[in-house]
Amino acid sequence: MKAWTAALALVWLSATVALAACPPSAIVIKFAHVVNATDNPKGIAAQMFADRVNAEMKGRVCVEVFPNSSLYDDDTVLEAMLQGDVQMAAPSLSKFEDLTKVFRIFDLPFMFKNIAAVDAFQTSPAGERMKSVMVPRGLAGLEFWHSGMKQFSANRPLLLPSDAKGIKIRVQPSAVLIDEVKAMDAIPQAMAFSDVYGALKTGVVDGQENTWSNIWGQKLYKVQDGITETNHGVLEYLVVTSVAFLNSLPPDIRHQLLDILHQVTVERNAEVTAVEAASRQAILDAGGTIRTLTPAQRQAWITAMKPVWADFLPDVSQANIDAAQAINARF
Ligand code: SIN
Repeated sequence: MKAWTAALALVWLSATVALAACPPSAIVIKFAHVVNATDNPKGIAAQMFADRVNAEMKGRVCVEVFPNSSLYDDDTVLEAMLQGDVQMAAPSLSKFEDLTKVFRIFDLPFMFKNIAAVDAFQTSPAGERMKSVMVPRGLAGLEFWHSGMKQFSANRPLLLPSDAKGIKIRVQPSAVLIDEVKAMDAIPQAMAFSDVYGALKTGVVDGQENTWSNIWGQKLYKVQDGITETNHGVLEYLVVTSVAFLNSLPPDIRHQLLDILHQVTVERNAEVTAVEAASRQAILDAGGTIRTLTPAQRQAWITAMKPVWADFLPDVSQANIDAAQAINARF
């Protein structure tokens, strides 16, 4: 068989296998996300959710997961969801900017001490209320999923925010993150996640901020001088579906589906710190450089970035900031 005939046969076979995976009578849920399926807490949780639904709902519902931006990237997935072309996704909270400003609290630098504090905030009444803020825009928030604390990486050592003066840093499309980078006297560049590795490799940007699992999963450490353990922010996801799709489900199916999703959420969110620690270690084992900060250096990052809070007070509310700070004090 010629090489191209073999390739065509392979494509046909994978398409057939993919189509065969869902019984014809099943309600099909396409779950699109942008990370890999094995290293990132979201990728692992999405696959676990699909496996459980497909095993336990006995062909009534069938979940197909599309990782690595293979179906939609974060710029297009929400519009596609409103059109009914994809049923579930879990974009980072920074990607809902056009729909709501309440999630900006999660982007504010040094707002949350750690992921345990984020979890406590999200499961508080204030956090629970946030899930439904986009219902008037047609999107229902179902569960918050954690990714972890963010670190800065660059093509030069960053020990103080001033070390980033004048360099280009990729951020998600979030007004808060853009201001955070400006507070370092650096130049923010918003771009899609799928473009970050290439942009760092070719020098389109010099640095970026992300969680250990994304830096490991996307191999970003390979195209950076090093990673600075700043723990300056959090990367959090909201599992969303369209209100129209949710309402179209028979009540018993909706109940079972949301129940499985909640169980997966609790189980995987509890594992996130371990997943992040494993990614951090994997970077070190692969020869990546990680720089830790002295207390004085860390204070310099806080001093440079915390003034950003004031600009976003009307969006996030003093009450929510106070609630987050009170929760921090418990951890
Ligand atoms: C993600 O983890 O879903 C992407 C985060 C990013 O865009 O940096």
